[in-house]
Amino acid sequence: MFPDFSRRLPVVDPDNRELYISLGCALENLIIAAENMGYSTDVQYFPQDEPEDCIRINLKSSSSALHINQHLFKAISTRQSTRSEYDSNPVPGADLKQLENVKTSRNISIQLFTDNNKIKTLTEFVTEGNLKQYDDEKFLNELINWIRFNDAEAIKTMDGLPSRCSGNPSVPRWLGKLFLSLTVSGKSQAQIDQKRIKTSSGLALFISEKDDKQAWIETGRAFERFSLMATTLNIKNAHHNQPIEVSDLRNHLTEHLSLGSMKPQLLIRFGYAKPLPYSLRRPVNEIVTS
Ligand SMILES: Cc1cc2nc3c(=O)[nH]c(=O)nc-3n(C[C@H](O)[C@H](O)[C@H](O)COP(=O)(O)O)c2cc1C
Repeated sequence: MFPDFSRRLPVVDPDNRELYISLGCALENLIIAAENMGYSTDVQYFPQDEPEDCIRINLKSSSSALHINQHLFKAISTRQSTRSEYDSNPVPGADLKQLENVKTSRNISIQLFTDNNKIKTLTEFVTEGNLKQYDDEKFLNELINWIRFNDAEAIKTMDGLPSRCSGNPSVPRWLGKLFLSLTVSGKSQAQIDQKRIKTSSGLALFISEKDDKQAWIETGRAFERFSLMATTLNIKNAHHNQPIEVSDLRNHLTEHLSLGSMKPQLLIRFGYAKPLPYSLRRPVNEIVTS
């Protein structure tokens, strides 16, 4: 697997940290699919004989691997980022345990927050992140470039953030852009996010020991598994990474949570909601070459 730098986000993700996290998500899906089909996997990060950054997955037939992750495998096609408000119901303790104990590399840990006061403090970090990000015109332009305001745009590119997947209507691009420029600000986005977090059952913070490419990929693997496990439990999730994307805030968050040398990587909310329309998937032959 190789990173696709044509899809990097230089403003919000200048170090490609989230790009490598995404690669980890895809890698975890691939491993789960391979195991489900009866292969054991051995992953090599950045093998020396490859000129570019590469992840090599060696597959070996293994009858003991067959179907071991069938529940996670089935969730690959039903998992989604659900960006709507949730229904405020709490996740039962047994299910929280399953989420907390999702198998990750030794370098990654997951902290769950279900206490209202702690969630409130983390929400303040998200608010501050929104205020800082939306104050930057380059951030807004990058975001607008990736929004697919209507179905025709979404189908043409098969990527980005289709409006419908955020619970918004399909509109012509000029209207969507006009609406965004007139209505969206750090303050309005913060209010939307406050409500979305308030109606969620909790937040999950993914933390790594290191802050390098391998740690980012391993974070993606842990997050994907978490998200698939959540899906098997009918729990939805969505990203609120602003406090990690804004570097000052990331430092404050690290101090606030006494993480020492550990690094926060992803902040996710989880809870119960109806599914939203699914984002599109590019055809396999567009992304697999032989
Ligand atoms: C590292 C990472 C960061 C993300 N950050 C955001 C985010 O800030 N806001 C958001 O709405 N979605 C975010 N997403 C979700 C992606 O937009 C989403 O996974 C993608 O559009 C595919 O949709 P799906 O998850 O519903 O399949 C992020 C995903 C990853 C892997």
